[in-house]
Amino acid sequence: MKILFTLLIILSTFNCLVKSQKFINFVPYQDYECTTNSYGFGYSISTSQECIYNLGNGPSNKPLSYSASWETFQNETYLYFKTYNYTDTACQSPLEQYSMQNNSCSPSVFLPTPFNGTIVGSEYQYSLISLTDEPVYSPNSLVFSQYQQPDFNVCSNGDLLFSTTVSNGLKTVNGEYSTSYICNNNNAYLYNCIDRVNCKLSNITLSCNQAGNINNQVNYC
Ligand SMILES: *[C@@H]1O[C@H](CO)[C@@H](O)[C@H](O)[C@H]1NC(C)=O
Ligand SMILES: *[C@@H]1O[C@H](CO)[C@@H](O)[C@H](O)[C@H]1NC(C)=O
Ligand SMILES: *[C@@H]1O[C@H](CO)[C@@H](O)[C@H](O)[C@H]1NC(C)=O
Ligand SMILES: *[C@@H]1O[C@H](CO)[C@@H](O)[C@H](O)[C@H]1NC(C)=O
Ligand SMILES: *[C@@H]1O[C@H](CO)[C@@H](O)[C@H](O)[C@H]1NC(C)=O
Repeated sequence: MKILFTLLIILSTFNCLVKSQKFINFVPYQDYECTTNSYGFGYSISTSQECIYNLGNGPSNKPLSYSASWETFQNETYLYFKTYNYTDTACQSPLEQYSMQNNSCSPSVFLPTPFNGTIVGSEYQYSLISLTDEPVYSPNSLVFSQYQQPDFNVCSNGDLLFSTTVSNGLKTVNGEYSTSYICNNNNAYLYNCIDRVNCKLSNITLSCNQAGNINNQVNYC
């Protein structure tokens, strides 16, 4: 009886810990009310990570560190997005801090671009920002997920650091280089061109595997 009781307590504590993990989602829109079709790039960031280096694996030479957190004050939930110097790998002294209310549509120029270039046909980006138990992705997007998990072939949401999403059909340009992000049959592709004529389609679909030194990665549509 005592053992069963202890087991129940351990199980319910464990359940609480599992449930306490939340994600701050930035679902992209082109209008300030977030009512048109979702389009652009977005993120879903785990709040159980205190400090994330180089969110979105952007092209910057000196990537920043980032944190995403939340608190409930009276009956409102506030979400915080902070940037830190790239040397501040423990996220101690914020450079910039942005606060938003749950379920609000806000300009999101502060999000790091996950590509080196500008989006064709998009002037401003807004995001519908939410706090949820599971990551929320915009539909019809390429999803690039990074996991903090050193074991080969282990990619579960409990270990998710962040996911970057890019809308199907989105095109970026950078001088004579252009890149289009394409979904086909749940597979993710890049269509890279130099000078508009020299083009190459690459399948970048990735099932759970070790992409780099420490993080597992998944790419899909
Ligand atoms: C981004 O693109 C520009 C222009 O092509 C290039 O000069 C720069 O080195 C690139 N930066 C990174 C970090 O790749
Ligand atoms: C929070 O409470 C205030 C005052 O009671 C109310 O005006 C507001 O609508 C509430 N907000 C939410 C999200 O329930
Ligand atoms: C980041 O830290 C480096 C080294 O400490 C420093 O040289 C640089 O000026 C800092 N950058 C910012 C934006 O604070
Ligand atoms: C935040 O908003 C989302 C979307 O409406 C909702 O599902 C979630 O329960 C809200 N979270 C909190 C803590 O209020
Ligand atoms: C793209 O890559 C994925 C994963 O390696 C593979 O399953 C799929 O068949 C590939 N698609 C094509 C058209 O080759």
